Amino acid sequence: MTPSQNWDLLWHSVKLACMNKGGSAYGLIEDGAIAVQDGTIAWAGSASELPGPAETLAREVRDGEGMCITPGLIDSHTHLVYAGNRAREFEMRLEGASYEELAKAGGGILSTVQATRNASEEALFEASKPRLMSLLEEGVTTVEIKSGYGLETETECRMLRVARKLESELPVSISTSFLGAHALPAEFQGRSDDYIDLVCGEMISEVAQQGLADAVDAFCEGIGFNLAQTERVFQAAGKHGLPVKLHAEQLSDLKGARLAAEYGAVSADHLEYIEEDGVTAMAESGTVANLLPGAFYFLRETKLPPLDLFRKHDVPVALATDCNPGSSPAESLLLMMNMGCTLFRMTPEEALAGVTRNAAKALGLDDRGVLEKGKRADLVIWDVEHPAELSYRFGVNPCNTVVQSGKIVRQFS
Ligand code: NIG
Ligand code: FE
Repeated sequence: MTPSQNWDLLWHSVKLACMNKGGSAYGLIEDGAIAVQDGTIAWAGSASELPGPAETLAREVRDGEGMCITPGLIDSHTHLVYAGNRAREFEMRLEGASYEELAKAGGGILSTVQATRNASEEALFEASKPRLMSLLEEGVTTVEIKSGYGLETETECRMLRVARKLESELPVSISTSFLGAHALPAEFQGRSDDYIDLVCGEMISEVAQQGLADAVDAFCEGIGFNLAQTERVFQAAGKHGLPVKLHAEQLSDLKGARLAAEYGAVSADHLEYIEEDGVTAMAESGTVANLLPGAFYFLRETKLPPLDLFRKHDVPVALATDCNPGSSPAESLLLMMNMGCTLFRMTPEEALAGVTRNAAKALGLDDRGVLEKGKRADLVIWDVEHPAELSYRFGVNPCNTVVQSGKIVRQFS
């Protein structure tokens, strides 16, 4: 047979976990092959259906030796750009202080704000880069990064510039979120509505004008902002044409997820305290439930997010690290998959969908998250026999090769 293709790269003898909806579990293809061309997936399917002998079809042909390929992993909720750390607070919490008490006493998020305001752009970049690199080591190819430790225009913009610079220097796609409404800065004590004026006025205008944010987030909580203030932030985002998402129902049920759904939010995140009305609202608006087991674990939360309700109403569930210095100093998305299963009782297939297909949806990205012709060629080759192993093991990194946008960017053997 004459070669009918000239793909850049082709793997055969691989097991594909395509993660597309509706088919077999994991969208699994046992004896699969996958080809990339110009940064996108040119072909994916059963090796027996390849349009000719594998070695004639691509400039480079590789034997996957039975390894497993998944879409590149997506960490859809992080605060990984910050300065300092809060190890001392961790000690205080273990001695009995609560996360909320520390926040009310001026610690918590505000202590990271102090450190971040004092850090130069370069220092912030250098502090954040290793955290991002830890994620990439495990096959992450897309990461969301929030601002929210500046709480003043200049520092918020600096954080987002650092996030953009990380994308330009490392093999990863970064999606940025402006989180000016993360906490009330000390200089606005007792004047939270005035601070929201600043967020919705000067801050968001500057961020939008400089093209620094892909979305807008807020922290709707007793120690964050109330529902009316959150709604003002959403309206300001709408004026600038930016999609919204929300930290909602992490410590109490303020009905933030319902409001987020009303504004067509891409995701509502945390959600331990959400009730069924919030879940049905999310189902109607197609809002992703973004669960953060690292924060649940680290804050020793006992109230579980209602997985049964998300399943019942067919709300897509994502999983993310929430990488941040206060509630989840986690730099492993694989560990979050294991925790999603052990702590939240997700299935390993749900956990993998949570860091691929549903994580892409949480970022409003429809060009990735599944292995299908035409999608971005962000792939990970894992030294495992079955994709369930990715959730089953912990503290182990079976990543063999990472392909980002069609290029091999990491290879371990
Ligand atoms: O997602 N909940 C609010 N924000 C972060 C925590 C930030 C911090 O404590 O520094 C979270 O848990
Ligand atoms: Fe968060």
